[in-house]
Amino acid sequence: MSYIDIAPSILAADFGYLMRDIKKVEGHAEYLHIDVMDGHYVNNISFGIPVIQSIRKYTDMKFYTHLMITNPEKYIKAFADAGSDNITFHLECSDDPDKLIEEINALGCTAGISIHPDTPVEKVFPYIGKVKIILIMTVYPGFGGQGYLPSSNERIAKLRRAIDEQGADTIISVDGGITLGNVKEVYDAGARLFVAGSTVFNAEDPAKAIEDLKSCATLS
Ligand code: DX5
Ligand code: ZN
Repeated sequence: MSYIDIAPSILAADFGYLMRDIKKVEGHAEYLHIDVMDGHYVNNISFGIPVIQSIRKYTDMKFYTHLMITNPEKYIKAFADAGSDNITFHLECSDDPDKLIEEINALGCTAGISIHPDTPVEKVFPYIGKVKIILIMTVYPGFGGQGYLPSSNERIAKLRRAIDEQGADTIISVDGGITLGNVKEVYDAGARLFVAGSTVFNAEDPAKAIEDLKSCATLS
């Protein structure tokens, strides 16, 4: 079957028992999604480099670090050194995304570029084939537990067409409001890497929630 995966977002984990929660999803997903918020680009502050360094010691999952921060170029080395495997920054926060992508790759990480719901989706088209992941925000960035923005489906479909036309292997990721009830329509629109916070970590059995999301997405 073609590529599909869930990236559990630790924003919805219990930080008092962070490693316990990560262990619940280890082995069920390739990437662990790590939301870094600076209180500038978004109206919330989450956690940063020391937390990533600490959890790096206890899991082999790939770290998909989502930087919701201004001036990402100042911090990518620190996030790479802390153990990120993928560093995803916001298109809106960089004056020179091409340079930043090169720098991320030079640090031994794959790059991702994320786009805010209010930014026209065509603005990410120049990065198709240049980044591993294009992350379409499907809620307004800053908080977990929000509802999926229905206008996202059309944005995903447009990006899907552009990627397929070029025959590129860039992965379309989505972030925010992904549930068992909507994952199929989002998959059908063309997304393949689903970030999910609440749906995974608020579930009784987070590993089962991951498997359920995958099977709902690909139901025929
Ligand atoms: C929101 C974050 C998301 C968040 C998703 O700004 O980027 O990764 O954790 O959470 P849910 O899945 O609860 O919408
Ligand atoms: Zn995120």
